[in-house]
Amino acid sequence: MKKEVVILSGITSFDLATKIAEDLKIIEEIVPVEFRVFSDGESTVKINKNLQRKYCIVIQSTYPPVDRHLIQTLMMIKKCTDDGALGVCAVIPYMAYARQDRTFLEGEIVSIALVAKLLEAVGTSELITVDVHSMRALSYFTVDAQNISSVPLLANYAINGMRLTMPIVISPDSGGMKRAEEFANIMKTDMGALDKSRDKITGKVIINEKLKFDVSDRDVILIDDMISTGGSIVKACEVLKRNRAAKVYAMCAHALLIGDAMERIKKAGVEEIIATNSVPRRCSKVDLSPILSPAIQKIIHLQT
Ligand code: R5P
Repeated sequence: MKKEVVILSGITSFDLATKIAEDLKIIEEIVPVEFRVFSDGESTVKINKNLQRKYCIVIQSTYPPVDRHLIQTLMMIKKCTDDGALGVCAVIPYMAYARQDRTFLEGEIVSIALVAKLLEAVGTSELITVDVHSMRALSYFTVDAQNISSVPLLANYAINGMRLTMPIVISPDSGGMKRAEEFANIMKTDMGALDKSRDKITGKVIINEKLKFDVSDRDVILIDDMISTGGSIVKACEVLKRNRAAKVYAMCAHALLIGDAMERIKKAGVEEIIATNSVPRRCSKVDLSPILSPAIQKIIHLQT
């Protein structure tokens, strides 16, 4: 017997969840979830449908305010489990805390390990995320946890939606080299990575001015997993401009753009920021549903 699949959308991902539901042809099965934040900052969720024997897809990106969106995710999953759901697939396009995947300073805890424990404790049976900051973050999960790259979608956007002169793809740091390589391969162009370091205490970004490649008169696509404070992109753009790059574009999966990041990035000379709808913003022009829907479909097929 085919089991019933339902989608529960968090407040952070409603448009994305609707697109996924359309792709999976289960649009009538988006379960309404009511969210409330009390005056003391506590969250609550209310789900009037009984989810017993349903296979539940919970979609919620945990962008800032991170802790609020994370607790709402845990609450939605808990409700599915308490009702007796057959399983709960958590789709968390932006996985908060993934940068805290190890102890950087003595006395710190590995926060993503705690988040993994919490998600599993409430009943997550599968997890899907997008461009997780590090694969190490996923190693703390014991359930099936998969990461999907948004690079093919972003690169295709660059090919079809941007007019570029002699483009070169650059990662702001060596950690993002593989991402830049994948992007450049799709665009059939060349790539490079900047030499970036960050002060572990102040967070200040330093980028080596001397480049191992030539960017003069070339349009640059800076590709990163996320733009948070914008510090990395601002420094990267300044260095590239001093090395006579033509136009500089910033592309990423997750445009957190904390505080005045957008203004500072523009002021540094970045032509445009293009991101995915993992974080819904004006610059989030690349829809993730074409990669998320098939991945969810595969899990549904296995689980139901
Ligand atoms: C760092 O390793 C990441 O890939 C990003 O470059 C970084 O997290 C972006 O943060 P921010 O915008 O605050 O520099």
